[in-house]
Amino acid sequence: MTPPDARFPAVRPRRLRQSDTLRRMVREHRLRAEQFIFPLFVSEKISRPQPIAAMPGQSQWPVAAIADEAARVADLGIPAVLLFGIPAAKDAVGSGAWNDEGGVQQAIRAIKAAVPGMLVITDVCLCEYTDHGHCGALRVAPDGTTATVENDPTLALLAREAVSHAAAGADIVAPSDMMDGRVGAIRSALDADGFTGTAIMAYSAKYASALYGPFRDAAESAPQVGDRRSYQMDPANGREALREVDLDVAEGADIVMVKPATLYLDVLAAVRARVTVPVAAYHVSGEYSMIKAAARNGWLDERRTALEALTSITRAGADLIITYYAPEAARWLREG
Ligand code: PBG
Ligand code: ZN
Repeated sequence: MTPPDARFPAVRPRRLRQSDTLRRMVREHRLRAEQFIFPLFVSEKISRPQPIAAMPGQSQWPVAAIADEAARVADLGIPAVLLFGIPAAKDAVGSGAWNDEGGVQQAIRAIKAAVPGMLVITDVCLCEYTDHGHCGALRVAPDGTTATVENDPTLALLAREAVSHAAAGADIVAPSDMMDGRVGAIRSALDADGFTGTAIMAYSAKYASALYGPFRDAAESAPQVGDRRSYQMDPANGREALREVDLDVAEGADIVMVKPATLYLDVLAAVRARVTVPVAAYHVSGEYSMIKAAARNGWLDERRTALEALTSITRAGADLIITYYAPEAARWLREG
């Protein structure tokens, strides 16, 4: 018999793919429910769960229902949730973000009381709370033609929000605004108020991505004018992600994040190689909704596609994965 490759007659990689047992034994990466962080939207405006049209299977939750939802998620072996707030009222500076009786603050306390083992992470940003929908303080030119998101005045607002979340019992705060210097400002403010044990998971390499579209409906946080390209990163830039990550680690980030995930696996792998802190990746709303939509049309096998996407994120080097698929994926993984 002629060998398939005369130069390496003995090398046949297919030998190790012959049985499920063998494939499992030589598998390099394994997706686990304990890596998952499940995002939850808490709304101050509703009294029953409100399905999110652009994200099939996801809902906004009233504060009164959030602990039950967190308990359901915990029962599936998912250790952490990431909270986003939708306030009853918005204003120019987003003051609802640091309301100690706000939806997120109440949700933290409710989850901690009902499911003490659950890790509660909060998104720290102003876009859900500002009437203009930007992630920071806005300065509008006197003639009204241009508006600038101001960096330094935003830092104190973010710090106030983070301290309010920590005071309510958040384990980890996750700034997603992309202002320069926010990690350092938040770390100082937390420490000054005695929250030295509250960790920071920084959205370090957060790109100005089209894939956040469904989320902005879910969180009611679309910018009213302009876009986020003066603070979120240009999708064409890879090296710049390492600069952002270096700064966040230097400022005290305990975990760094790359977002979105599957279109940025190169960035994720480079960040993984660069740092010693844990790395998180956010499989964002658009990544979720694309799979849902194709699956609903019968064009893709949902389970296989979603698990393949999440596995690719693990293979690229993520320790933690923020994903709307967390409950379904946890169930699929349990089924084996
Ligand atoms: C708010 C924020 C966004 C996401 C997480 N935090 C939206 C944005 O920046 O416009 C996106 C999450 C997703 O799409 O699932 N700063
Ligand atoms: Zn924001």
